Amino acid sequence: MADSRKPIISGNWKMHHNHFEAIQCVQKLHYRLESDDFASVEVTVHPPFTDIRSIQTLIESDKMKIGLGAQNCHWEEKGAFTGEIAPAMLAKLDVGHVIVGHSERRELFGETDDSVNKKVKAVIANSMVPILCCGETLEERQQSMAEAKVQGQVREGLAGLSGEMVSKLVIAYEPIWAIGTGETATAEDAQAMCAEVRQVVREAHGDKAADAVRVQYGGSVKPGNIVELMSQPDIDGALVGGASLEADSFAAIVQYRNH
Ligand code: PGA
Repeated sequence: MADSRKPIISGNWKMHHNHFEAIQCVQKLHYRLESDDFASVEVTVHPPFTDIRSIQTLIESDKMKIGLGAQNCHWEEKGAFTGEIAPAMLAKLDVGHVIVGHSERRELFGETDDSVNKKVKAVIANSMVPILCCGETLEERQQSMAEAKVQGQVREGLAGLSGEMVSKLVIAYEPIWAIGTGETATAEDAQAMCAEVRQVVREAHGDKAADAVRVQYGGSVKPGNIVELMSQPDIDGALVGGASLEADSFAAIVQYRNH
């Protein structure tokens, strides 16, 4: 990765850990990590909504440098949207990063590039950083459609944003066939697609945005494969699911520089 981009490693807990388990996990993670780790890597955890207030309190009272994130939000400010959470509600709880358009949300809950774009804008409007997810299915990869799929998701997800806005955000490339399967893209394939993501940003939002935007790889990231992934020039971090649920394995991923 380029020197100017600080790596960002994010734990996507999905629908795991109630608020007691979440507190324990963050305490253990904090204990495992050194201040050096935070100097060189930005670390965020994305617990379920019901845990966020508890983790906010913990981070604040113990002055932890772990960043608090969410996994989703709605794009409207408020209103009759039963079951939804407004971005301002998250910002009020010191949430700094919001995952937007994860493949599970797209595939299981019908999110479209258009709703993803609205969410990205709403997150930015509330001074938080979106982690915009993109990635292809196995079928799309086998039919050589992976690049076109990802290009479209990035272009449409970022539509209408200024280069300045794009330079501050995070894009996670996650091939769907590698999520939760134990199968990882090779470091070369991951690099090629992350470079492609950056190229789309370059064409649509200019050089400054492309050189500053951070691109994460996600999909079965583990302590055993993080070093090779992070040595790629266009991979600036990781979005980690399963291996982020255990503080030990997540800490080992964050500490990839020591391996
Ligand atoms: P995984 O999930 O690390 O368990 O493959 C990654 C993700 O879905 O963000």
